[in-house]
Amino acid sequence: MKLILLVTFASVLGLTASSLLPTACGSNANILSESSFTHKGAEVKLTTISCPGSDVRGRSSLVNPTKPQVVSQCDAVANPCISIVCDFRPEQPTLLDCNDLTIALEGLSDPILIPPSTGVNATLGTCTYIYVNLDTVEYSVCGSTFGTLSTETTTDCFGTSIAGLCFSPQIPGNDWFFTVGAP
Ligand SMILES: *[C@@H]1O[C@H](CO)[C@@H](O)[C@H](O)[C@H]1NC(C)=O
Repeated sequence: MKLILLVTFASVLGLTASSLLPTACGSNANILSESSFTHKGAEVKLTTISCPGSDVRGRSSLVNPTKPQVVSQCDAVANPCISIVCDFRPEQPTLLDCNDLTIALEGLSDPILIPPSTGVNATLGTCTYIYVNLDTVEYSVCGSTFGTLSTETTTDCFGTSIAGLCFSPQIPGNDWFFTVGAP
């Protein structure tokens, strides 16, 4: 099941399985915008990256204009990881940095807007979260969603790795991809 999903996502993202883990968003991901803020003396970098190839299913042409064009992804408990693949590569984040990153993101007053086929990379120290919107509509993602998905991933992988990939059900309105890893 996990392997099938990994292969599915590799093809969705236009990647080979070996390039999926290091890049998450395609080797030719472009940085669209960058910002940063400070949390308890530590810098949190937020980067929006384009994810070319994540729209290969061509669903853009099927967008239903009566549907909301911004979908809230603030209830991560209702939209959990449907499958988790642990990332055993040697570069691992520390749980301490991931916990600090989670707390910093939970403190954001506004959700982060993530257009279709783009992702947000949030980094503090050794820990990076990447959330990729695979949908055809914009997502509004609360900081707490990053923390919830990170906790699910690291808890599932605990004892083997801290880094991991978390997959959504890949259905319209709930079509995203999240990773915990080293920057
Ligand atoms: C995420 O951001 C970090 C820090 O800015 C950077 O080193 C890393 O390359 C970025 N990763 C991706 C996939 O954009």
